[in-house]
Amino acid sequence: MLHTLYARLSLALVGLFLVTGIVYTLITNSMTERHLQEITQHFNRDLAQRIVADRQLIIDGEMNEQALKSTFSAYMDINPSIEIYLLDRTGKILAFSADPGKVKRQHVDLAPIKAFLHGEGFPLLGDDPRSHERRKAFSVTPVPAGDMSDGYLYVVLRGEEYDTAEQAVQESYVLNLSASAVAFSLGFGLLTGLLLFHWLTRRLQRLSSVMSDFQQSDFTSHQPFSRKPSQEDEVDRLGSAFDEMALRIIDQWGQLKEQDQLRRELVAQVSHDLRTPLAVLHGYLETLNMEETDLNPERQQEYLAIALRQSDRLKQMVEDLFELAQLEARETQPVCEPMVIAELVQDVMQKFQLPAQRAGVELEWDQPEVQLFVQADFALTERVLNNLISNALDHSQAEGRIRIEIKQEASNALVIVSDDGKGIPVDDLPHIFDPFYRSQASGSHRGHAGLGLAIARRMVELQGGSISADNSPSGGAMFSFTLPLVSS
Ligand SMILES: Nc1ncnc2c1ncn2[C@@H]1O[C@H](COP(=O)(O)OP(=O)(O)OP(=O)(O)O)[C@@H](O)[C@H]1O
Ligand SMILES: [Mg+2]
Repeated sequence: MLHTLYARLSLALVGLFLVTGIVYTLITNSMTERHLQEITQHFNRDLAQRIVADRQLIIDGEMNEQALKSTFSAYMDINPSIEIYLLDRTGKILAFSADPGKVKRQHVDLAPIKAFLHGEGFPLLGDDPRSHERRKAFSVTPVPAGDMSDGYLYVVLRGEEYDTAEQAVQESYVLNLSASAVAFSLGFGLLTGLLLFHWLTRRLQRLSSVMSDFQQSDFTSHQPFSRKPSQEDEVDRLGSAFDEMALRIIDQWGQLKEQDQLRRELVAQVSHDLRTPLAVLHGYLETLNMEETDLNPERQQEYLAIALRQSDRLKQMVEDLFELAQLEARETQPVCEPMVIAELVQDVMQKFQLPAQRAGVELEWDQPEVQLFVQADFALTERVLNNLISNALDHSQAEGRIRIEIKQEASNALVIVSDDGKGIPVDDLPHIFDPFYRSQASGSHRGHAGLGLAIARRMVELQGGSISADNSPSGGAMFSFTLPLVSS
């Protein structure tokens, strides 16, 4: 029942209204009481004095016992809401205007009487002789008047009779009506508050159901929490943050699945690629190892050469795989230093002169007009160039050309390696840098693992550059990579 925010808020609101109602009633009662006492005391400030004067209670400085008695009985009839007491100088009650059985105190505290006579602020509450603890508003005057007084005429205002009448009136129609008015206002406020809370928490409930729907779909589908951008509040912001988070989770979940799939394919590919040369190598070595072999020495030499080639291929493949794994795991860190990129390109080209000549391919080199200094790792950049040029050689026909250019592009040096081979099919272009990806159309070359470009890309990226592949307008493939220039 209390598992919704709305239920909790409602409970809190009901509690709050109840407490407010009780506190309001208590405060109003006590304030009204105090207010009435104050008014009564102000209004009857001189009552005691007037009684003494009007009823001629003092004659020649002496108390007129007769007049006192008639005063008591007269006031009990005329104004039963007041009670009159005659006190001596110490506050002891000498005579009073009530049934003797009702008077409980013998003494009245003198401190409030003195405060009254000194004119201190009202309301001043004095002892009510009819009760051991009650205190009431009063009026008092010394008798006889002046410093030589023997005692006081002490008048309790709103006495016991008044209280009885007040209690009777409390059950009256008017008071009931005002109590109902207070209850109605509180009830109305409560109802409005509950409706308001319902309206305010509705969107939170909707957000929570959007969230649980997402959870129930096993984090795979999400119905966005719609919102009004013009009146965005915390709930909307929470909703939009959740929308974003859910979409990202779905996206990353998809990526993870895809990567998992790729990884499986990769393992299958690696084992397949390693098995083929291993099987060939094993076959030839087995034949050579047979005891009664009738192979002549030339044949044996030939078989050994094949076995050696296969083992070279295996070695190369394992080395490439190891290198890529290291690059992916970021174990290889580039040591970048300023160098002239043209000098490195020239060195690498020299190395490829002989194989190019053998393949009948011409290596062309466009000297840059200005010397470009790049901030790069010498060995890594050499490896990138090696991979690109050897790919170009692999895909060039006899009498083909491989062209290398260096350009400046913003704050980078751009190195372009292009050939005039068959180029790369458009469908393959987005995947060409993936490990083990080999274009089917190039029909190429068995014995290549498809790791060269993946390695090249990681190496370029490690140095803060980027690499891309395209087909040149003349038809061949064109690879270009950037390296950051030394900032001057
Ligand atoms: N100059 C090029 N012209 C046409 N296709 C190319 C060229 N360079 C690369 N490719 C295509 O890109 C694929 C991936 O190249 P990559 O260098 O990664 O692998 P590989 O050369 O096949 O094998 P490895 O480099 O591991 O020996 C190649 O199989 C080929 O299909
Ligand atoms: Mg290659």
